[in-house]
This record gives sequence, structure tokens and C-alpha cells, in this order.
Amino acid sequence: MKRFLTFCALCIYFITTLPSALADTQQGKGGMVSSRSALASQVGADILKAGGNAVDAAVATAFALAVTYPSAGNLGGGGFMVIALANGTVTTQDSREMAPLGASRDMFLDAKGNVDRKLTLDSLQSSGVPGSVAGLLDALERYGTLSRQQVLAPAIKLAREGVVLNDDIAGQFAENLEGFRLYPASLAVFSKNGAAYAAGDLWQQNDLADTLQRISDTGRDGFYKGTTADLIVAEMQRGGGLITHEDLQSYQPVWREPIHGSYRGYDIWSMAPPSSGGVLLLEMLNMLEPYDLGTLGHGSAATLHLMIEAQRRAYADRAEYLGDPDFVAVPVANLIAKNYAQRRFADFDSGHATDSNAIGAGNWAEESPQTTHFSVVDAQGNAVAMTTTLNRSYGNRIVVPGAGFLLNNEMDDFSSKPDTPNSYGLIGRDANAIAPRKRMLSSMTPTIVMQNGKPVLVTGSPGGSTIINTVLQVVLNVIDHRMNVADAVASPRIHHQWLPDTVRYETGAMSDEVANQLRAMGHKGLSGSGFGIGDANSIGIASDGTLTGTSDPRSVGGVAGF
Ligand code: DON
Repeated sequence: MKRFLTFCALCIYFITTLPSALADTQQGKGGMVSSRSALASQVGADILKAGGNAVDAAVATAFALAVTYPSAGNLGGGGFMVIALANGTVTTQDSREMAPLGASRDMFLDAKGNVDRKLTLDSLQSSGVPGSVAGLLDALERYGTLSRQQVLAPAIKLAREGVVLNDDIAGQFAENLEGFRLYPASLAVFSKNGAAYAAGDLWQQNDLADTLQRISDTGRDGFYKGTTADLIVAEMQRGGGLITHEDLQSYQPVWREPIHGSYRGYDIWSMAPPSSGGVLLLEMLNMLEPYDLGTLGHGSAATLHLMIEAQRRAYADRAEYLGDPDFVAVPVANLIAKNYAQRRFADFDSGHATDSNAIGAGNWAEESPQTTHFSVVDAQGNAVAMTTTLNRSYGNRIVVPGAGFLLNNEMDDFSSKPDTPNSYGLIGRDANAIAPRKRMLSSMTPTIVMQNGKPVLVTGSPGGSTIINTVLQVVLNVIDHRMNVADAVASPRIHHQWLPDTVRYETGAMSDEVANQLRAMGHKGLSGSGFGIGDANSIGIASDGTLTGTSDPRSVGGVAGF
């Protein structure tokens, strides 16, 4: 299964620095799935082999991830999907969670007017109305070819018969055990009667299998009505949560116009608000396009300076302008216009860093395995990029008793108080304030890059605020630095999000000499350590139709293709 890539020059470096993290890279022309879970990728590839298209495979992979990768794969969360059909149609689906009807602007403020981070992250109130199930089923109905029963069967089997835990997942459960102890249903799912699971143990999830079976039998009603809905609402009522039957029944995914722009002759297709991903990706690419990054060189001070300055400006715009377009007017067309980027970047100084406080307020938290991204391409040329999440790792860690799945804590992605950082250090203002039925702003950036109407790269990543910059760097590595997809994904990354005004970078992203050059220009907080920005499970498509799937070496992923 793990056919280790031989053509990635950086691998030796990665093996020596992160022994547990291996990229999986495979090639084929029949179909390809790259995800955070080898088992889920295999489910998707089997669906492709059985004659399903990329959308069928994506839906099956997503349901399988809800079983095999529970920190982020989910029924109780939401996500975004970019679909490029072989006939040239590109569309995107928003299955983002919504604030319940009972939510209100200041619901997370304590008596002193401060944000109560326990409430935004560790409570039943932290959950938005889940969107994944509605979104996946709607995508299947519109663009899939197989039946609901066919695409759900593998996930049901994995939940019912169980999976043998590997070190990666058993380790995650052990790490989170104390959090799960707070909730009996969570403890029952993620421990053996309170004791940690070990690698090699068989892990079965019967309640989850029953929930999946109800979805298979009756479609969205199997989740948003009847037994599953009753179990969700009962848990909400037990612990002060807000989600009601009305919230569940009225949830709808939204098909949105993709964010589309060009970069050096390539077409970039990505996610529109309520994700900030596509807008910021395009805005940054537009700012960088006038500069020949290929010639300036990958990892050079000049290239990194340009990237950081573009990141700083785009993330400042995020805080001010972006939110749910169904509630606030988001000036998308302006933000992704090439002439706007020109003006926004007019004060770029090739010798000096701009002070973030001069262009516009934040702290970021360490990442953990939370959101997840997967990519699928079939032999006909249909492609799907999907990023899905519970927000933080294992969401609020609350399993719905009797239903076997975790609830999200996505409400923390709203701006609970103006200019006050959320758990990713991101700040926001009115545009992203809480309101009933509003969707919280996201950074998820599922993206498909096309050339002459055909997909050449399918990518995306988890990583909270870092997501957009990860996707930016995968795209730049392929287009400007002419890397193959495996190297483009493996190459060490940098991150700047306007505030806090600091550059974070992975070991190897720049030499000490370059870091010193950037310091001399006035860039702050340059610290290079570790190897954990993003997890970009991607697929490259060559002009002869060869598909190269690669999982990100920063984690244990899996590619399945043929
Ligand atoms: O939608 C968002 O931007 C966040 N809820 C994503 C969370 C995430 O990526 C966590 N991953 N490491």
C-alpha cells in the first residue's frame, strides 16, 4: 500500500526529521484518491473501480472518513467541495454549519464582556447545525451516478465490522482521552471501558453504523429527522445546546459560484464565501503575478518577502470584509480583481517589511489533527477537492449519545467579539459576527487548478488560518517553481496572517542566511521549527492523463489509485 516515492528529492530529509510521517505517492490513469486515511482512500478507489465517478468516490470517501478519521472526518460537521466536471462545468458546494436559530451576537461573552473560550470550543453551544450529511447526499444526487446505498455501504461496513487501529489513530485517542472522559458517550466510543486503545486493537462503532444505516435507508431524513435528530436534540437539551428540530430540518447546503481567476495562464477555481479561502488565494496570487518568482528562486529572501507581504495584506482584508454572503455584502469581485491587487500592493517595498499595525489587530494556536482535505480524480477527467471539519480536533469532543458521532465546535469560527482572536488567532469584525442561521467564516480552500480547460492540480489542506497559505504555496510550487506534485506538497512552508505580525516557518523553508536577510528587512518573529503547517493531500494530472496522487508527508495519509 505504502509505495514510498522515489522521485522526491526531499524525502531523505523528511525521513530523518519525522520518522513517522511518510508521503504516499502513487500513479495511474484509472482513478486516484488522496486522503488522510488509507482506508478511506481505498473506499473511494473501489467506488471508482466499480464504475462510479469522482463525485460518487468523493461522497463514499467522506462517509468513510467519518468512520476511520474521526478527529475531522464527520457527520456532525461541515465542509466545502469544489467539483470540476469533465464537460467543463465547475461548481462548488457549501455544506458549512449554520448558527442555530437560538444563537445571538454576544452569546459567548461573559459578564465582563470577554469571550468565554470554554463556551466557544468546549460546550454544546459551540456546535453549529451540521451540514455534511445534507451536502454529501445532495452532491451525490446532482452529480453522482451510484445509489446512496452503494456509496454508504463501505462506511457502514467499516463502522460495524471495525477497523484495526494503527499507531496514528490509537495515539490520537490516547492523547484526547482526558477530554473524552467528560462525556460517557465519548468515552464509550474512544476507549475500551475507560482504558486507552492500543495500536492493533479492533475498533467497532455500532451506534455510528446504525446512524449511517438510517442515512442509507432514508437519505437526509435519516439524519435531520427521526431517530438521529431526536438523539441530537436530546443531547442539546441535556447540556444547554441550542440546536432544535427546526434547525436540523431547515438546514440546506448551498451551491455557490466558484471563485475563479487566472494566474500565469492557469485557471484557479476555489471556494467562495463563507470561506475566505478562494478570495484570499486569488488576491495573493494577483499580488504576486507581476513578479517572476521562478527566477527569484524558491526559498530566496526576495520570494519569501513578496509572499509574506502578500499574505499580510490579504489576511488584513479577511478580518474586515469577509463573512457569510447571505448576511453581509462581501466585495468579492473587488477583492479578486487584478487592479485591486495592484493598488493593494502599491506600497510594497522590496527592501522592507510593512508593519502589520500600519495596515490595519491577534495569536495563533498550535495546530492539531483537525480538519481534513482529500482529492479525487476519475478516468473521465472529473475532479473533486473537498475539505471537511469539526473545527478543532474531535470538535467539542461530545459524541451524541446513541448516535455515535462527534459534534463540531465551529461556532468559534465566528468573531465572538470584534478584534478579538479566535482559536486560530484570527480576528474579525461585523462581517463575521454571530447571527441566527448565519454561516461562520472559514479558511478552507479546496482548489482545482486547470490549464486549457483541464484539471492539472487538485489540492487543499487543513490547518485553520494556515490553510490558505498552504494552498498558495502548493500552487506556486507547481506553477512558478515547476515542481512535481509530490515535491510541491512536501516542500517546507511559511505562514504569515497579518496579526500577529510574525513569520512562522517549517524547518528547511529557508536557510539561516535568508532568515537573517528577512530580519534585516524588518520581518518579525522569524522562528523555524518543526514540520506541521498543513496536510495537503493532492493529485496532479499530466497532459497524457497520468494521475499522481500524493499524501502530505507531514502526516500519515494514504493514496489509492490504479
Ligand atoms: O473553517 C475553518 O477555517 C476552520 N474551522 C478549519 C479548522 C482547521 O483547519 C483545523 N485544522 N487543523
